Amino acid sequence: MPNEPDHPPAKKFKPASVLFRLDKQKAGMLLPGKPKTTTIDDQRRQLPIYQARNQLLHHLRQLHNAILIGETGSGKTTQIPQYLYEAGIGRQGLVAVTQPRRVAAISLAGRVAEEKRTHLGKLVGYSVRFEDVTSSETKLKFMTDGMLLREAISDPLLLHYTVVILDEAHERTVHTDVLFGVVKTAQRRRKELNKIPLKVIVMSATMDVDLFSEYFNRSPVLYLEGRQHPIQIYYTKRPQSDYLQAALVSVFQIHQEAPPSHDILVFMTGQEEIEALARTCRDIAKHLPDNCGSMLVVPLYASLPPTQQLRVFRDAPKGCRKVILSTNIAETSVTISGVKYVIDTGMVKAKRFNPDSGLEVLAVQQVSKAQAWQRAGRSGRKESGFCYRLYTEQEFDKFIPMTVPEIQRCNLASVMLQLMALGIQDVMNFDFMSKPSAEALRSAVEHLELLGAVERNHEHVVLTGLGKKMSRFPLEPRYAKTILLSSNYSCSEEMLSMVSLLSVDTVLYNPPARREEVLAIRKKFMSSEGDHMTLLNIYRAFQKVNGNKEWCRENFVNSRNMSLVKEVRAQLREICLKLNLKLESCGADTGKIRQCIAHGMFINAAELQPDGSYLALDTRQPVAIHPSSVLFQAKPAYVVFNELLHTSRCYMRDLCLVDADWLLHAAPQYFGRKLHPSKS
Ligand code: CDP
Ligand code: MG
Repeated sequence: MPNEPDHPPAKKFKPASVLFRLDKQKAGMLLPGKPKTTTIDDQRRQLPIYQARNQLLHHLRQLHNAILIGETGSGKTTQIPQYLYEAGIGRQGLVAVTQPRRVAAISLAGRVAEEKRTHLGKLVGYSVRFEDVTSSETKLKFMTDGMLLREAISDPLLLHYTVVILDEAHERTVHTDVLFGVVKTAQRRRKELNKIPLKVIVMSATMDVDLFSEYFNRSPVLYLEGRQHPIQIYYTKRPQSDYLQAALVSVFQIHQEAPPSHDILVFMTGQEEIEALARTCRDIAKHLPDNCGSMLVVPLYASLPPTQQLRVFRDAPKGCRKVILSTNIAETSVTISGVKYVIDTGMVKAKRFNPDSGLEVLAVQQVSKAQAWQRAGRSGRKESGFCYRLYTEQEFDKFIPMTVPEIQRCNLASVMLQLMALGIQDVMNFDFMSKPSAEALRSAVEHLELLGAVERNHEHVVLTGLGKKMSRFPLEPRYAKTILLSSNYSCSEEMLSMVSLLSVDTVLYNPPARREEVLAIRKKFMSSEGDHMTLLNIYRAFQKVNGNKEWCRENFVNSRNMSLVKEVRAQLREICLKLNLKLESCGADTGKIRQCIAHGMFINAAELQPDGSYLALDTRQPVAIHPSSVLFQAKPAYVVFNELLHTSRCYMRDLCLVDADWLLHAAPQYFGRKLHPSKS
């Protein structure tokens, strides 16, 4: 269906594909009255947490550690920092509120500034990667967990802060998990050194309370009474083979039957499918009969620029239904009011790591039960809600109960580098809440050793000078290394652009309906040297026209992501300047760039086999060139790839053509063992 947007589709999914029986009467009965206009102070007082304000403050004043559990929307994140501030708790320093996602940090800071009637960046500010909106006046600082971790590198005791609130703790991102240990250590050290105490508050809607309490010094758990409205859960009668199709059908089924003020939130897995479904929905909505009402489709995913993300919070015009298509970003982090229906595909795109093969892959997989409940909960916020699960109850029963923390399923090279930069001596025995496997830790250290970031000093693993420099970049170690190497190849300007291009979501806009056109246009930029060079050609052309929006549209370039590339690049360049890196451009000599990529990313090399297939050299795992690559039709002998995507097979994405000699030169010993015998 997504390939036939011009087809009048409404008829297509009538009776045969009905997934749920919608109880019309129930849906109709719940027509909400227009909410009375209330002042922002009234709104604050109406939050469930307000009832508990004094009691909470009484506890929080005394406790050094606290765990606060309360339903999403009860007011934890926006109110607790303000309560602390109003009660004068921790006034000697700042209150940090960490969030796993940047969009949450930004929107929450905005909301709290509004409640406090100040401009963002004054009393209330935020700090996320590549953006800092704080000032000397800032007391309440919303930040991503990754940012607080970066700050800890120069200030391991976190002395600027008197309170650290670790919010959305159940999400267990790698950064949050590392932060747990860092904050715990800072708290203990400050006590030992007689410094101002650090208060640590862990907040969440749902979590494994015992594990957290035990870890944080047997911390007391404070429960907030929620005000969750009942939610009706529906399952499909039969397993669905195509969750996108099922989601589409469900959206329009609800659209045709429920009052227009009832918004729909659909949980999906990633930008590409979200944008594709958004287009299909818009096309279909256009062709529906008039009595169906209009539809406003709003995508939401992490790589959308913040201003675009904020569109999900805006009300749809009267009589128009808002349909939000989101990744799991809307699962816990952002609160979107007015959602009456949740459609849960049951899928999420997440990292998976196999320490045996050393490969980290991004794969679409089933959510956990905890995630599914959390998703359902997004519908019962203002009034009762409905959650349509696009899987059967039997399937749900087989979901894993809790999501495995990311730290136990990702490549730990970045984490290890950061821990060592934090001055932690014995990284192998760091106080993790959930310890990664010994193999995973070992494999991370080996990876860093190969990159030259660490070396073994008797029993200990220590950071090298290069490793120290690498840790200054908020990037994966191999990208940091590649940038640092680039001055040897006189192509730092290009490498900065390249790494920035690879650090944001794709800058290429690929509307499926206009495939032929896209291909024709893209030919102009295509390089036989691979995707990196193709991307660089696009960036260079973009620079030439000064980021002209019209040019972006004509050339199927995502101008928002491109603007982000520019921002990221400026920040990375700043770090290079601080490190006195020689910044040169190699001009037309693009071989230099590929040589540099080969040198920095040699761990991700793959070799053509006599039978025409590819093997990843590091692990000897079979891999294939992703169809989106400009090298898809070619059969280069050696490539380095940027990432692996695991769907039906293991695909390499973003490829660069390299010479075997360059790889050998980059790591003679390593490749002495790995390269094809006839070539080494
Ligand atoms: O953290 P918790 O889920 O308990 O709630 P919160 O994020 O503090 O949100 C409490 C309420 O503030 C929400 O229900 C929204 O009504 C409002 N809010 C908002 O309007 N805009 C935001 N960006 C965040 C919250
Ligand atoms: Mg919250």
